[in-house]
Amino acid sequence: DLDADAVARPAVVTIMGHVDHGKTSLLDALRESAVAAGEVGGITQHIGAFQVPLPDSGTSLTFLDTPGHAAFSAMRARGASLTDIVVLVVAADDGVMPQTREAFGHAAAAGCPIVVALTKCDREDCDLERVKRQLMAEGLELEESGGNVQVIATSATTRAGLPELETALLLQSDLMQLRASPTRPAEGTVVEARVDKGQGPVATVVVQRGTLTVGDVIVAGQEWGRVRALRDARGESLDSAGPGTPAEISGLKGAPMAGDELVVVPSEERARRVSEKRSER
Ligand code: GTP
Ligand code: NA
Ligand code: MG
Repeated sequence: DLDADAVARPAVVTIMGHVDHGKTSLLDALRESAVAAGEVGGITQHIGAFQVPLPDSGTSLTFLDTPGHAAFSAMRARGASLTDIVVLVVAADDGVMPQTREAFGHAAAAGCPIVVALTKCDREDCDLERVKRQLMAEGLELEESGGNVQVIATSATTRAGLPELETALLLQSDLMQLRASPTRPAEGTVVEARVDKGQGPVATVVVQRGTLTVGDVIVAGQEWGRVRALRDARGESLDSAGPGTPAEISGLKGAPMAGDELVVVPSEERARRVSEKRSER
């Protein structure tokens, strides 16, 4: 970002990997909550977005969860384009599988640095060396073989490896020197949207540049509206959301689509015209 007032921003880290390899559990362990335990059938149906503060370093990381099943390839492709760092999750008992390869492909195509998290390392049937050989056979250049991809052995169950994973992500994010202006009109990307019975259309967005503020007039894909409320992943109200920050917004007239770009515009009149023009396409 070339703006003169650009400041450091949190990295956007996307968790990708094969179905049931432990993406949501790993993320839960990192933020010490229990999303995976509450999911229908333990299957992630959407991309969640939340920020994990890392008190030791005084910074935060923004995490996006993605579904592993084959039907969600497009979401993983969109996730990769919004992402600064991909955590490629590979279950250490199962090894490289089709969606592992696909996720690696998206990350490579987007030019995203990768950190590999070997998950379920508490299981007796896991074989770390076998998985590392598989990863190298796929073309990943692992640090222990002179490349720059770190591999971290983790367990969501025992919490082993979590500090090492956080350290690897912070190191990678420091190397990238991620910066963005907090003052310009906000731009971001929609990661999921739904129509809530009480609140109407609700979209989860990650702000990439600028600061999104309650009262802003926005266009997201073909939809427009005025931001009525902003919330974080726990449902707490926010006054504003700056660069690298995820937020749930209400106030749109309709639900945009995952992957849609969000921009702030100067007036409702302008927003209406932009969204009409986009709907004609
Ligand atoms: P999808 O979103 O459906 O692709 O799955 P996911 O990759 O998010 O995996 P999820 O976190 O739902 O975990 C899948 C299964 O693996 C669940 O039964 C978890 O309890 C189990 N699991 C996840 N992490 C660990 C771990 O560290 N150790 C053990 N033993 N089991 C784990
Ligand atoms: Na699952
Ligand atoms: Mg999941």
